[in-house]
Amino acid sequence: MARHLITSAIPYINGIKHLGNLVGSQLPADLYARYQRARGNEVLFLCATDEHGTPAELAAKKAGKPVADYCAEMHQVQTDIARGFRLSFDHFGRSSSPQNHRLTQHFAGKLADNDLIREVSEKQVYSITDGRFLPDRYIEGTCPNCGYDKARGDQCENCTKQLDPTDLIEPRSAISGSTDLEVRETKHLYLMQSGMRDQLNAWIDSKEDWPLLTTSIARKWLNDGDGLQDRGITRDLDWGIPVKRGDQPWPGMEGKVFYVWFDAPIEYIACAGEWAEAHGLDDAAWQRWWRTDKGADNVRYTQFMGKDNVPFHTLSFPATILGSGEPWKLVDYIKSFNYLNYDGGQFSTSQGRGVFMDQALDILPPDYWRWWLLSHAPESSDSEFTWENFQTSVNKDLADVLGNFVSRVTKFCRSKFGEAVPDAGEFGPEEQALIDSITTRVRAYEAHMEAMDVRKSAAELRGIWVAGNEYLQSVAPWTTFKTDPDKAAAQIRLALNLVRLYAVLSAPFVPDAAADMLAAMQTDDDSWPDDVPAALEVLKPGHAFAVPEVAFAKISDEQREDWQARFSGVRT
Ligand code: MF3
Ligand code: ZN
Repeated sequence: MARHLITSAIPYINGIKHLGNLVGSQLPADLYARYQRARGNEVLFLCATDEHGTPAELAAKKAGKPVADYCAEMHQVQTDIARGFRLSFDHFGRSSSPQNHRLTQHFAGKLADNDLIREVSEKQVYSITDGRFLPDRYIEGTCPNCGYDKARGDQCENCTKQLDPTDLIEPRSAISGSTDLEVRETKHLYLMQSGMRDQLNAWIDSKEDWPLLTTSIARKWLNDGDGLQDRGITRDLDWGIPVKRGDQPWPGMEGKVFYVWFDAPIEYIACAGEWAEAHGLDDAAWQRWWRTDKGADNVRYTQFMGKDNVPFHTLSFPATILGSGEPWKLVDYIKSFNYLNYDGGQFSTSQGRGVFMDQALDILPPDYWRWWLLSHAPESSDSEFTWENFQTSVNKDLADVLGNFVSRVTKFCRSKFGEAVPDAGEFGPEEQALIDSITTRVRAYEAHMEAMDVRKSAAELRGIWVAGNEYLQSVAPWTTFKTDPDKAAAQIRLALNLVRLYAVLSAPFVPDAAADMLAAMQTDDDSWPDDVPAALEVLKPGHAFAVPEVAFAKISDEQREDWQARFSGVRT
């Protein structure tokens, strides 16, 4: 049994995420976690909310709430929505947890012990109008690298370059828009990661199987000069993890907190501690996932994220781990995604453009979204959500292909043989051909799922559904029944078993429909079809079943037009 540690990039606490965020990390991570569990492997699937930094502070201020209360509430909101999409986290943690406080301070202490931290007196942008330092994202301006005029102080969204606020051309406060800014002196801690270029290069070189999207972004920032500059890891803010050296005070750093991008990835580790605590387990229980000296050497660790997160996961976080000199687990595979666009433009949280996770669940069940998003995942390039495409895919794939198969087979059986698997007849050449073809396709599906090729996996799964429909169409049991009822019985016996097989194979994509299908087949046997012919005989003659409710209602043109209009504007 293999052991899989799986993490999704942790979403910012402020606000509800849109479908582009969902398909860029949490959803494919869930697909993979569900698949690995279905294969009988041991999985620890973690995600959390990213709660520090100025965005959280400002959102709380806007909501008129203390920031800790705001974060607690929004964490609950995000937890409920994650459940709504059936994201099967083993734990959904919080980067503001005591575990993350301790661990972040621990890492900073270790880095300092290893002479990788220096104190820098630096000039920072202070907004006279706002009465505060303006860190990171709260300064906007023109990117010195590509000229994009809405670049943020921490990163340019357009070219993914990591920035320092003082790099921006024509800076302005993102809080007030004020350009009444001045530069003031303040002291900060810097992580000296520039000396780690060779080590990081060698590590990335060793990852020959990584997706090109991941390695090309990593190499670009590693070798194009300044991607690996020493980075400030502290900020002049109230909300965050207080700067300490391990559990000791850090002289001169009073009142400062760690930079959100320093503590956020450490939450991947802390979250395992939160998981252990929530289940009454001891430290050894989570350390066997994270410490190579305590059992994690045989863990395979996979991270999922959008492309804008790649530099932080290929450079900054590994630098923290390597720099600690301690045997923490490094990531084995980074699966990254391009962007999903919305109807001719970009999804945008700040502009309220697109469909947000709560809205999506208000109008349709999670399986519809999961299927469309995963089967159109922005892997090799950006992809686009349009309501037409959504309607067509859902109606065709889920209603016409999968749903129709289940409904035809069960209804036909009920009317001709009753609500139990018929026992007459034998499999002939058509049945054998179908079993062979399904076997080949199941092996291909497994290979795509192992490789995290999300679109290819979806296409293969759809192919498996189609094969069943084509078989039914060609052997036509409703016709056979008139002349050779035993033969029709054998065909339907196979088809009912296919329904169970489809449930097992489809569960990582459409877990609710899969559960309904298993329930209708009145079986708990969801074991993976290592042996496809055997899996197609699990439901024995005489086994009772029920005709399920309509699994997938079609999206009508009227609904589509209604939603198109409703989501064309800007969310306020
Ligand atoms: N909150 C960040 C984002 O949404 C992702 C943080 S991932 C982690 O872009 F590495 F910091 F954990
Ligand atoms: Zn840029």
